[in-house]
Amino acid sequence: MATDDGNSLESASALLGSNTDPRHIAIIMDGNGRWAQKRFMPRAFGHQAGVKTVRKIVEYCAKREVEVLTLFAFSSENWRRPEEEVSLLMGLFMATLQREIDKLDRNNIRLRFIGDRTAFSDKLQAKMAEGEAQTKDNTALTLVIAANYGGRWDMCQAFRKIAEKIAAGELKNQDISEQLVNQHLSTADLPEPDLFIRTGGEQRVSNFLLWQLAYAEQYFTATLWPDFDQSSLEEAINSFKGRQRRFGHTGDQLLAKSITLT
Ligand code: IPE
Ligand code: IPE
Ligand code: MG
Repeated sequence: MATDDGNSLESASALLGSNTDPRHIAIIMDGNGRWAQKRFMPRAFGHQAGVKTVRKIVEYCAKREVEVLTLFAFSSENWRRPEEEVSLLMGLFMATLQREIDKLDRNNIRLRFIGDRTAFSDKLQAKMAEGEAQTKDNTALTLVIAANYGGRWDMCQAFRKIAEKIAAGELKNQDISEQLVNQHLSTADLPEPDLFIRTGGEQRVSNFLLWQLAYAEQYFTATLWPDFDQSSLEEAINSFKGRQRRFGHTGDQLLAKSITLT
């Protein structure tokens, strides 16, 4: 059975479900503030520790040959935090990019940003563009950083682009399909997330990849982001591998298909 949305439904590995590695892992890195507060330290300390975890997890995903890793770094709602914390996060973002871009490049990692970057300083926007340009032809892991990202924003910007094309006569109303919307999202050229992880104990999506997570397997852990490590990620991947992804089919249908597919 086929759908027109261009997602992973067609691939044999998705139908087999269990025991296949996720191609795209999307993570809400939550719990930095609480990690610091537990240590009677300022929240900034937690964010700094969180950056170290990012480095380790990126390294591990590259080694493990994950295709895409999307990390939620700053949501469109995080501007509501105290000004001091926001400016600290921006500083950390800039410093991390300055330090890490060459290293990502050397490791054949392609860096991408999704989100409304116009809200960032010119300097930061320039650095983001530089990181993307420098690493654009790399072929190992694609590292997607969601910065000033909101799932609702992503859908709105896609709808706006489609509406503009309709107004210009390039598209008709009837052309609007799931596939067309997909093609206008900020993740258009990436496979859909297979595994969605949220650290820090909360069980909500917080306006992350709303459209794209439709069929992602969800994994919540109480582990705070600075404590998340390779073995925590491995545990999440193992949980993923043990699940049967049915995409609307029955389990029996998948079993029959898996026999013909192997
Ligand atoms: C996630 O950690 C990092 C960002 C949102 C930038 P938090 O800062 O949300 O940490 P908690 O949830 O307050 O512990
Ligand atoms: C989500 O975490 C955003 C990021 C991790 C960047 P939050 O900590 O901001 O989410 P809420 O506010 O608890 O939902
Ligand atoms: Mg939080």
